[in-house]
Amino acid sequence: MNIILLGPPGAGKGTQARRLVDERGMVQLSTGDMLRAARSSGTEMGQRVAAVMDRGELVTDEIVIGLIREQLTNDDPANGYIFDGFPRTLAQADALGNLLAELGENLDRVIEMKVDDEALVARITARSTCSNCGEVYNDATKPIPADHVCTNCGQKAEFVRRADDNAESLKTRLLAYYKQTSPLVGYYYARGDLSSVDGLATMDEVGAQIRKALA
Ligand code: AP5
Repeated sequence: MNIILLGPPGAGKGTQARRLVDERGMVQLSTGDMLRAARSSGTEMGQRVAAVMDRGELVTDEIVIGLIREQLTNDDPANGYIFDGFPRTLAQADALGNLLAELGENLDRVIEMKVDDEALVARITARSTCSNCGEVYNDATKPIPADHVCTNCGQKAEFVRRADDNAESLKTRLLAYYKQTSPLVGYYYARGDLSSVDGLATMDEVGAQIRKALA
């Protein structure tokens, strides 16, 4: 099964993707994580995209489609992929459809996660991530453990805030979502691939809605 989690910054795509990895043994493909990994390992591409990401703008289609192409052609997971943060433009959606078709694969479902802007801002400005395993925390709903031992990996860790999780970048990220990514809702609806969930519900409730959509 191959699925897309589609939603604005802070909708909970990463949170739910990690749950699906644990529950179904699927492979999470987050273009945001891939780009951040390229930045921190200092590749030429990583350096080129750093400022774009910090401003909250989208990286070029060419770069992200290249990353996804490389992954899909080098791996064939038994339980399929969760695309998290990809596609984000119509060109990326077309490219993904073509890539899957070339590999004889299907796109099984697109889950749209609906959350209003006020909640997105509150979530993003309260987010931190375990530097060891990437587990996501939130000051309001999932606070950092007092002993700084991550509940997921069991390691004493640093809990870091992302460089683009600030009010200015977030404004640009939201604009990019509404202008460049939200047209994908209609694109996948027209193909009969779309299910929408209430991303404002609790994490467990959102997980249950996703399970129902995938049943
Ligand atoms: P990316 O890393 O994909 O960031 P994003 O889309 O902005 O999404 P986030 O990771 O911020 O949010 P999320 O939906 O995963 O929410 P999370 O689960 O963490 O992209 C970063 C940048 O990379 C882009 O701006 C762009 O520059 C570039 N890029 C990436 N992909 C690209 C592409 N395809 N094309 C071009 N450029 C690309 O949750 C957020 C917080 O809320 C957490 O603290 C969490 O604990 C909490 N939370 C989650 N669910 C709930 C809930 N139900 N109730 C309460 N709190 C919740």
